Amino acid sequence: MITRREFMMGTGASALGLLGVAGPRAAMAEGSGPPILRAREVPVRLLPDDYPETRLWSFADATPGQTLRLKQGARLVRRLVNDLPAATSVHWHGIRIDNAMDGVAGLTQDPVEPGGSFDYDFVLPDAGTWWYHAHTRSHEQVARGLYGALIVDEAEPPEVDRDEVLVLDDWRLNPRDGQIDPDFANMHDLSHGGRLGNFVTTNGRHDLTLEVRRHERLRLRLINAANARIFVLALAGLDGWIMAHDGMPLPRPEPVGNVVILAPAQRVDLIVDVVADEGESAHVVRIERNDGFSQVELRVTGVESRARRSAPGPLPQNPRMEVPGIEGARRLRLVMEGGAMGRMDAAILDGRRQSFRDIAQAGRFWAFNGVVGMTEAPLAELARGETARIEIVNDTVFPHAMHLHGMHVREILPDGALGPLRDTILVSRGEIREIAFLADNPGDWLLHCHMLAHAAAGMTTWLRVA
Ligand code: C2O
Ligand code: CU
Repeated sequence: MITRREFMMGTGASALGLLGVAGPRAAMAEGSGPPILRAREVPVRLLPDDYPETRLWSFADATPGQTLRLKQGARLVRRLVNDLPAATSVHWHGIRIDNAMDGVAGLTQDPVEPGGSFDYDFVLPDAGTWWYHAHTRSHEQVARGLYGALIVDEAEPPEVDRDEVLVLDDWRLNPRDGQIDPDFANMHDLSHGGRLGNFVTTNGRHDLTLEVRRHERLRLRLINAANARIFVLALAGLDGWIMAHDGMPLPRPEPVGNVVILAPAQRVDLIVDVVADEGESAHVVRIERNDGFSQVELRVTGVESRARRSAPGPLPQNPRMEVPGIEGARRLRLVMEGGAMGRMDAAILDGRRQSFRDIAQAGRFWAFNGVVGMTEAPLAELARGETARIEIVNDTVFPHAMHLHGMHVREILPDGALGPLRDTILVSRGEIREIAFLADNPGDWLLHCHMLAHAAAGMTTWLRVA
């Protein structure tokens, strides 16, 4: 029995399902050109059987889009073919990429019109768990399903029994017809916590179930593809280590504590051992308020070995992971303002100072340093090889997931130590956090909130590395 409550909450029921990581249709060559990555609208069985199929936009016949999997150092070559009714482009999130391949329509390339194509061709310098997604009207297109996982394998991957890609999303569906709610300009979403869904999935399933064996060792690659939802996750019947954040390996695996927080666009690589008994289930648990829901069920159907094996060593480090010269670094500041219940009473929009009310009337709600949205001039122009630090001041009452394109950052922790290398940093309401990065990748790079409705409503700026 499917109840309305189940639909609204997206709880993990325990129906049996098999993991479908890769889109079934592999990239196919058309003529002699590069392999195709096709964006199109497809009906997908997202909801339980008594609902209609949901029409999504996808890079496959299913959701998530194709999982692209290559070796570290390889070249990724794909021809994006746009069969959608709208212009699009592909951003390769977290890849320290050649700027011309970054996929930001209006900054690094023109949008690809319906019927058009664009050839992406770049080297993958870093092993890890990445993802790709539309970067044209992304607050709409990502919400419609335009994304996939991009897995880059280490030359010598760690020893695990299985490697599972788990793409988390929440969909805003109309409960009457099961279709994507098309209200992408919803004022409440834009001005509050972003577009939160009412149906939560892993790999396109609300009841994803894997069969595992006791003491089996799994690498779990969790990717948050949601527009705005911050997933708070815990493990039950699993015990393990955080190996990497946002694709980048930690120098030492860290035991998974009580919770793992995954902001929009963030990834985490875990290595976990199944410690639940045969006949039981282990779970990746999603915590909401004080309730736990099964995000992924792992049914223990056998025993892999009598004893657990020893703790894993770290993943091999990627190149260029240092951020040198923090002390003498160029200092920048990014003050976030606006939103509902915020203190912003005016800001610059379209080159003029306007009242918050007029800005809101234009469907914008947020500012960086008193400016709403993209500007002619970059926030800063950095010399190639320079180290920069940015103090991020969240003067709003909402959390924001700040993402820098093209380079990874480290947080400067209160004690002066450097945090792990990341591409997306969650900054809670009222917080001040400082990040530092080596500006070693030339080009024009976005810096924006990955709560995509926030980015659309003003929280987008850019840096130039010349
Ligand atoms: Cu994943 Cu500019 O984004
Ligand atoms: Cu935000």
